[in-house]
Amino acid sequence: MTPPDELRSSLMQLLETEALFGIRELPVRRGVDTAKPARPSREVRIPSAPAAEPAAENNTARLRVLDEQQVKGCQKCGLHQGRTQTVFGQGHPSARLVFVGEAPGFEEDRTGLAFVGRAGQLLTNMIQAMSLTRDEVFICNVLKCRPPNNRDPAADEISACSPYLFEQLSIIQPEVLIALGSPAAKTLLNTGESIGRLRGRFHDFYLSGLPGVGAAVPLMPTYHPAYLLRNPADKAKTWDDLQKVMAKLGLTARKRT
Ligand code: URA
Ligand code: SF4
Repeated sequence: MTPPDELRSSLMQLLETEALFGIRELPVRRGVDTAKPARPSREVRIPSAPAAEPAAENNTARLRVLDEQQVKGCQKCGLHQGRTQTVFGQGHPSARLVFVGEAPGFEEDRTGLAFVGRAGQLLTNMIQAMSLTRDEVFICNVLKCRPPNNRDPAADEISACSPYLFEQLSIIQPEVLIALGSPAAKTLLNTGESIGRLRGRFHDFYLSGLPGVGAAVPLMPTYHPAYLLRNPADKAKTWDDLQKVMAKLGLTARKRT
């Protein structure tokens, strides 16, 4: 390619990524929206089990027991003191794809739901760009309580809380995992490697917690949406990562118009 072609092509890529999950271009829909979608999708739906199926019902019950009997009243680390409420996570109880973030922020602590603030809006756009909806995937965090002023999770908080995450994953049994940002990737992969070096390829996640024991689940680390809000130029790399996950799940991207 000649330099102007190269420039045009990387500009096009940037624009496409922005259109796919740029927060300004694709606002989340609030309430009932009867307007025709500006960007019709090819309606590729993830073929997960409908919620009424016995496996999903059973998972819903097991997740509820974990939440209500263990997480909601948990005082295993100091973060219980400052929380309004715990944030268990939400979505499809037998989702093929699970997103793992870091910890609840202000809005999450207030509402009890994972990823509902500004980073959550960008995550919604990312999920929609993958031709999925939030209801079809499961979204949760390493920590279930908000750290004061959204500071980074401490090592003792991660070790106190991560058994809940591992239990959630062993109930849901996803086919693929996406770790959003460094704390999620490091916790799930038990590594100190930076997110910049981990992202872009699948790693083996072992539900058993023991490398090499039991089945491995492919895990894609990528940038956290809050980081992408501050560094939008890295959205293109995240879109590459998400496309690899789509290929793994047999999903087709929304048709570009
Ligand atoms: N950031 C996270 O990591 N998780 C949330 O739920 C919200 C913001
Ligand atoms: Fe318990 Fe996790 Fe909350 Fe700490 S962050 S109190 S371990 S639920």
